[in-house]
Amino acid sequence: MEKLRIEGGKKLSGRIRISGAKNTVLPILAASLLAESPVSIHRVPQLQDVSTMMKLLATMGVGVVIESANGIAVDATTISEPFAPYELVKTMRASILVLGPLLARTGEAKVSLPGGCAIGARPVNLHVDGMRALGAEVKVEEGYIYAKAKQLIGAHILLDSITVTGTQNLMMAATLAKGKTTLENAAREPEVVDLANFLNAMGAKVSGAGSSIIEIEGVPSLHGVDEYKVIADRIESGTYLIAAAITGGEIELLDTDPKLLEAVLLKLEEAGAKIITGDSSIYLSMEGRRAQAVSFTTAPHPAFPTDMQAQFMAFNSIADGVAIVSETIFENRFMHVPELIRMGADLQIDGHTVIVKGVDKLTGAKVMATDLRASAGLVLAALAAEGETIIDRIYHIDRGYETIEEKLMQLGADIERQP
Ligand code: EPU
Repeated sequence: MEKLRIEGGKKLSGRIRISGAKNTVLPILAASLLAESPVSIHRVPQLQDVSTMMKLLATMGVGVVIESANGIAVDATTISEPFAPYELVKTMRASILVLGPLLARTGEAKVSLPGGCAIGARPVNLHVDGMRALGAEVKVEEGYIYAKAKQLIGAHILLDSITVTGTQNLMMAATLAKGKTTLENAAREPEVVDLANFLNAMGAKVSGAGSSIIEIEGVPSLHGVDEYKVIADRIESGTYLIAAAITGGEIELLDTDPKLLEAVLLKLEEAGAKIITGDSSIYLSMEGRRAQAVSFTTAPHPAFPTDMQAQFMAFNSIADGVAIVSETIFENRFMHVPELIRMGADLQIDGHTVIVKGVDKLTGAKVMATDLRASAGLVLAALAAEGETIIDRIYHIDRGYETIEEKLMQLGADIERQP
């Protein structure tokens, strides 16, 4: 399995461009199943998860063409098999996002239940219950969701808890339902808003995305879109800001959007970073200061994102002081903690909380990546550590960070991939 070797201790500095958001591209690719003419999506990051979604669409008979390095055209007029097999779904949970569009567009869907996941149980009951509320007949049997509906009917759906892909799935299904759907307690993440904008560009009538009540007025059909440009990846942005902060360097991110990561920028400022934002840029410098440890609790947007928890844990590990980090979204998202401890961090897990006592330095070690964001946390720790770190199972990182070695090298990191 591929590994990353990082020789730590180099101050990172420079400018990099931020890629399109993984967690927006995936639902947008799924939403293109709804269109009766081709869609063209721009600023698509080259990631393993994007390839998996493209493969999934292709197995359904959909035409998927790579138009340029970061452009994909999808033609769903040829869809023949509304089926998402276990073999693909098990490699990417976001495959569940095809459930709503398939059901709305073809009247049926057979989608494998995603299996277990490294960060928590992650059930999809709210997706299934929501489809039922929209009038679909849904059976869950032999590891598959079988859903059928000649015509979905708009409904008032109060989501029991906040779910990002659940909100997206129901929003997509409701675009072609008869009448109005209201989603209450909807996720407010920027990736929900971008999907709503994409659906509206296809002719849908979605309003309220970004608030906790989303209304969708069903329309008879949706059409293709020319050149839809995906928003910046806020988690990639936050990760590179920490890469500079944790090494005491400075960075300018281009093609990003500071409005998408307010909670993260506030915490970085609290840690002592100087931050200057432009319309589409973010500059960060530690100005020679040691970071202060910062406490936080993960929660749905606009609060602090769970997808930045591991990276901040690494950052806190060598900061001055003590921080309390609480994870409220996923029940098992501390897999990076034992690995950071192997690098010399002083971390104590107590249920959903970790007490971080900042140490003066981390030292390189052999560590194991367990999921995407945990891998990012380990990369950041390795950049700051004294000596060499080898991170095994680095394939996780390729699911969500476009050309990570190149970008880090551009900033002055000593990093190489090993077979
Ligand atoms: N939940 C349920 N039932 C459901 C759906 C969710 O109980 O039917 C629970 C989950 O188990 C979890 C909580 O609700 O405890 C929130 O999960 P959510 O559904 O919001 O997560 P998701 O939609 O599966 C997306 C991102 C994740 C990100 C979370 C939270 C995508 C493709 N994935 O997952 O991204 O952590 O929202 O913000 O958008 C990542 O990029 O590394 C990643 C894991």
